[in-house]
Amino acid sequence: MRRARRDDFTRRLVRESRLSVDDLILPVFVLDGTKSVQPVASMPGVFRRSIDELLPLAEQAVKLGIPALAIFPVVEASLKSPNGDEAFNPQGLVPRCVRALKKRFPELGVITDVALDPYTTHGQDGLIDESGYVVNDPTLAALSKQALAHAEAGVDIVAPSDMMDGRIGALRNALDAKGFIHTRILAYSAKYASAFYGPFRDAVGSGASLGKGDKRNYQMDPGNSDEALREIALDLEEGADFVMVKPGMPYLDIVWRVKERFGAPTFVYQVSGEYAMLKAAAAQGWIDGDACALEALLGFKRAGADAILTYFALEAAAKLSQR
Ligand code: PBG
Repeated sequence: MRRARRDDFTRRLVRESRLSVDDLILPVFVLDGTKSVQPVASMPGVFRRSIDELLPLAEQAVKLGIPALAIFPVVEASLKSPNGDEAFNPQGLVPRCVRALKKRFPELGVITDVALDPYTTHGQDGLIDESGYVVNDPTLAALSKQALAHAEAGVDIVAPSDMMDGRIGALRNALDAKGFIHTRILAYSAKYASAFYGPFRDAVGSGASLGKGDKRNYQMDPGNSDEALREIALDLEEGADFVMVKPGMPYLDIVWRVKERFGAPTFVYQVSGEYAMLKAAAAQGWIDGDACALEALLGFKRAGADAILTYFALEAAAKLSQR
């Protein structure tokens, strides 16, 4: 076995999986206002930026060859409400951001999150009843309006992350009915109720709204994997173009099973907590941060992922272009 490992040239010849810039999607946090750049304390190297400050970052992504950005809004408290109506304001932060990005960088893919949590005072992804339970079908109507507001602004891909039942079909119908036949759907199909989302909730401020609440009656139980396959099957049947597993590293077995079973475009989200862990250990000098980040990303490819949402996208793309 070691003969093939002896030299770099043979290692390169026999390498089965590779990470390329084409695999990377950069998640970004966007704020209202101008000339505003705020660090996210629990995600070193990640910032919340106003649209004008986001454009130079997008330009960097384009120059490095990153195919797409995923935008996540930080919504002012005054715009939040129990029903999260700001989610479908056509002049809201996300539609404005999409328009600015598509105007300046038409070739850069833009992905938006469809879920109500940045906009609700309770921090849940959907509408709630008197008991606080997230109600499914009324939420579908709100999500459809949100997706349409994004489509009207020119988004390429809408990514429902809410985990309501039937949302992919509802979104596809709503988009098609208005003629948005090219708007793609990236379904967060196997999204787990994970503690690894903590830093993200700090970044967008949904953590404070959620308080002691959790999302376990709609996000998946971390103990399950057959259930993930059922979620994926439904989402594909309802019209998902791409499916996603989230989080990443603790769920590589799910990525593998999904890719094996369906052979569909399978995305994975290396979430905020995964990023924070690697950054924290690297800052302590306990691991080689760059090497570990690239190895983690390669692991997703080996597990079968086609594309990876990662806060390391810019750093990884820069490293890959140096090779
Ligand atoms: C919102 C959403 C979340 C993430 C992406 N979209 C958080 C949540 O469900 O509470 C998490 C991403 C990350 O942790 O990096 N629905």
